Amino acid sequence: MNSQLKEVVDKVAAEYSISNEFLIKATDKFEESMDQGLKSSPAREYMPMIPTFVTDIPTGKERGLFLAGDLGGTNFRVCSIYLNGDHSFDLKQSKFKIPLDLMTNSTAEDLFSYLATKVDAFLDEHHKEFRAEGSEILKLGFTFSFPVNQTALNKGTLIRWTKGFDLPDCVDKDVVELLQTHLDNLKANVKVAALANDTVGTLLSRAYSNNSSQSKTNTIVGAIFGTGTNGAYFETFDKIPKLDSSKFKDKTGMVINTEWGSFDNTLEILPSTRYDKIIDAQTSNPGYHLFEKRISGMFLGELLRVTLIDLFEQNHIFVELFKSRGGTLPHRLAEPWLLDAEVLSYLQIDDSTDLKMSELILQNHLRLPTTKEERLVIQTLTKAIAHRAAYLSAVPLAAIARRVAEQYKDDENDFEFGLDGSVIEFYPGFKDSVLEAINIINPLKGSNKKIHLSIAKDGSGVGAALCASTAL
Ligand code: BGC
Repeated sequence: MNSQLKEVVDKVAAEYSISNEFLIKATDKFEESMDQGLKSSPAREYMPMIPTFVTDIPTGKERGLFLAGDLGGTNFRVCSIYLNGDHSFDLKQSKFKIPLDLMTNSTAEDLFSYLATKVDAFLDEHHKEFRAEGSEILKLGFTFSFPVNQTALNKGTLIRWTKGFDLPDCVDKDVVELLQTHLDNLKANVKVAALANDTVGTLLSRAYSNNSSQSKTNTIVGAIFGTGTNGAYFETFDKIPKLDSSKFKDKTGMVINTEWGSFDNTLEILPSTRYDKIIDAQTSNPGYHLFEKRISGMFLGELLRVTLIDLFEQNHIFVELFKSRGGTLPHRLAEPWLLDAEVLSYLQIDDSTDLKMSELILQNHLRLPTTKEERLVIQTLTKAIAHRAAYLSAVPLAAIARRVAEQYKDDENDFEFGLDGSVIEFYPGFKDSVLEAINIINPLKGSNKKIHLSIAKDGSGVGAALCASTAL
């Protein structure tokens, strides 16, 4: 890279850097924000910290056949899960890609009717035994991975959409009722017994599978780092002032869905580059989920794209290309949201001579011809963006570990975090960087406990079944 360009790129990369001091400060701030959210009614300034009405962490002894419907970012998964009661389960599943026009240009009725049809078709294919007249009603756990105002295990109204969904008429409606109505229209013989966020599902399924006496770990967090990001953990009632806990007599606390995507929506401490601002303005929920917009898979590619466009507009890259195309850039680079995080994951690890592998990838995925120098710029920025995302991801995990240490003070076991999502699972080096940052924060200083990050693949379906198993 010529020295002038290098200077420019290093400066931009530095805007994405996260210092050790910041990690410590942000962890303190995160814990403070948890407390604010646990005492306040929902508002943009606070993390939602949603009580989930799940009061027990599974022991692994739960049994029976349950259905799960999982609406996450881009897919709807339908599963049946047989819990064997010995930490194991048998699972059948089908996965459907949500048509784009049901995510934005449509109505709640259309979306939920589509979901119900898929559940019904799944039963036809896998569980004919429940179709006969008079057969037992199957309980379904509905994993719905968006912020909801939950008022019972099987009741919750949508607060707002995230991750590219935008069906305004669905906001404030009870999503359990919507799904139930459409299942009943189809006479599907299914009762939506529980509503669970994917992080709650991940926490419960990981806890079910984890045989603590053998693994010597307790599962304390379920978290997603995928299209979106979020986490759930168990909180004691004395720390949830906004919940009337008198109804839960023999219980000690409840799982909280933090919705940490909305940590520091007021940007008191989060790093905020001009690129972050551009992206936020392009989303359907500007001003919300600003932490998520710096971390999760849906935004990593877009961050790289807007950063590259900025360098192009300052005449540092793609100048010749622009001329040779008669004054345009390839549309996959020019248009928002078309650069997938998966592409970044290939660019990140390219160590081929002259970054030849990146050349092919950029050509194939973006129809973007590049010079060696441009590829070096792209790789430097990719690494900077991913590094910031991974370091920021450590903050909520460390804060929760520190916070729940008190609950486990008489227990020798280590802490395990159950993590799911494409970014943590597939992005090269992401998980290691998260752990590195957790170690810098060192939230369990002074104790012998260690923190383990475990991939809890596809846990949310099993978790939803576990939620349904606790329903009356
Ligand atoms: C949603 C959460 C969800 C997370 C991970 C976020 O955008 O608000 O409810 O858990 O994505 O899927």
